[in-house]
Amino acid sequence: MIEHVAGLDHGLTDYGDRDFSRYLRRSFAQSMGYSRALLDKPVIGIAYTASDFNNCHRHFPELLAAVKRGVLAAGALPLEFPTISLGEVFLTPTSLKYRNLMAIDTEEMIRAQPMDAVVLMGGCDKTVPAQLMGAVSADRPAIALVAGPMMTGRHRGERLGACTDCRRFWARYRAGDIDAEEISEVEGRLAVTAGTCAVMGTASTMACLAEALGMCLPGTAAIPAVHADRLRAAEATGAAAVKLIGTTLTPSQLINRNSVENALRVLLALGGSTNAVIHLTAIAGRAGVKVSLEQLNKLSDTTPVLVNLKPVGNGYMEDFCAAGGVGALLRELKPLLHLGCMTVTGETLGERLAGDDGDYVDRTIIAPASKPLEPAGGLIALFGNLAPQGAILKRSAADARLFEHEGKAVVFNSLEDLSARIDDPKLEVEPNDILVLQNAGPHALACMPEAGYLPIPKKLAQKGVKDMVRISDARMSGTAFGTIVLHVTPDAASGGPLGLVHNGDRIRLSVKNRRIELLVDDAELKKRAAASSAHVKMPERGYAKLFAEQITGADEGCDFRFLK
Ligand code: FES
Repeated sequence: MIEHVAGLDHGLTDYGDRDFSRYLRRSFAQSMGYSRALLDKPVIGIAYTASDFNNCHRHFPELLAAVKRGVLAAGALPLEFPTISLGEVFLTPTSLKYRNLMAIDTEEMIRAQPMDAVVLMGGCDKTVPAQLMGAVSADRPAIALVAGPMMTGRHRGERLGACTDCRRFWARYRAGDIDAEEISEVEGRLAVTAGTCAVMGTASTMACLAEALGMCLPGTAAIPAVHADRLRAAEATGAAAVKLIGTTLTPSQLINRNSVENALRVLLALGGSTNAVIHLTAIAGRAGVKVSLEQLNKLSDTTPVLVNLKPVGNGYMEDFCAAGGVGALLRELKPLLHLGCMTVTGETLGERLAGDDGDYVDRTIIAPASKPLEPAGGLIALFGNLAPQGAILKRSAADARLFEHEGKAVVFNSLEDLSARIDDPKLEVEPNDILVLQNAGPHALACMPEAGYLPIPKKLAQKGVKDMVRISDARMSGTAFGTIVLHVTPDAASGGPLGLVHNGDRIRLSVKNRRIELLVDDAELKKRAAASSAHVKMPERGYAKLFAEQITGADEGCDFRFLK
């Protein structure tokens, strides 16, 4: 039985006469062919992000139909509305630039339109964080339904999944291991179904974190996009949205200090994407919760890596789902979690996890906490004179032989410089050197692209070099791997010390001490800073101008100042 709610009478259009506004709205709504009986029902909005520029959401029409039948069967009127969709590989310079725009769109459309609760249909990397950020700020009851991961493809007897294998094969092609014909075959076999990338990349990580935050139905994060269970999850999500009406289970209640800490634990145990640190910081920031990199390090020390998926391990998301999914992982982490956190079903996390201890778990994919893949978390924060406000290293995807490393800097001062010189046979670079990319952070015109996975210079790749320490203020795809220091903050374009590194400077990385140091004395750095002419040309109009004026650093989640 649904309590009285506003339905279509929510937030009437302002004509100075409320009864007229109601009459006019209903009259126009009737033009859509709904019966009066349906128009009197409570309304579930569905933030719908299908787009021909977003392959990951290709199955959304079918998923939408399932959500709608769930809503209707539960006694409410489902009304979808479009918002911006962000297809990771179809946006320039990078999808991160538009995450906040999508968050604004989502927030304002939830607030402006008449709905009693909302289903957030997202999936591709930036869409889930954007929707959660917007939903927290709009703060109407909300439930997330993620796209689900792609299934794997096959190539010459080997399983392939976007996009760790994309990078692996590309590196082999660059090294001359495979020819143009084979890379062209691989291109057609990496992304073979609808859904998000098949490994524990950013989209999969954010889906798991949404479930850990209590924002989607239990057990739904990892169901493959094309599995019939995903349609059943969509139907159940529609029904669950109706149950949310009139409750206090709004995003700002579910996303709080404790649930964010749970999500950080899950991120670490997954060996999840570095991007998730930025996104979770931004989502939490909307709820007034600060995520600090010092906190990340503390949690990292006491959270084991348990999930054996690429890029850190061997499996794919379809294996994770069959292995027991987020529920099985949460059970392993139970002693570390805040079990009193409320979830979107109205159950606490503890209630959710009670009583299913006997469920099957594939231990080759989800290790028991008593026998972890690694005893400490997959991500750590580094500090030092090169990154006073921190940097991130995905320890679990890095080469442990480089954890304590000192080397000579080979500097690229922009993305253009990198692509012009990285494969130049005359580039002076040795395997022990440290590659440094400047001006690829949030304040650069490139808007922090996933360029932190600097390619191994061709002449070294051809000699068999597979990994080097690479440092930048950029991000890295969640599907990538290597000893890669990212998100250096403050970034070079905002005057950070990364911009002061010169070719030949010595840099020291110490994972043990969580340090990243530029071995140049302070007086010299001051001299360089005074002589530095680095400045970013400000865009003159439009969203680019807003972005440049409002963007915060990676340590604040790259949200806009005026939205926090
Ligand atoms: Fe959409 Fe990877 S491209 S999730």
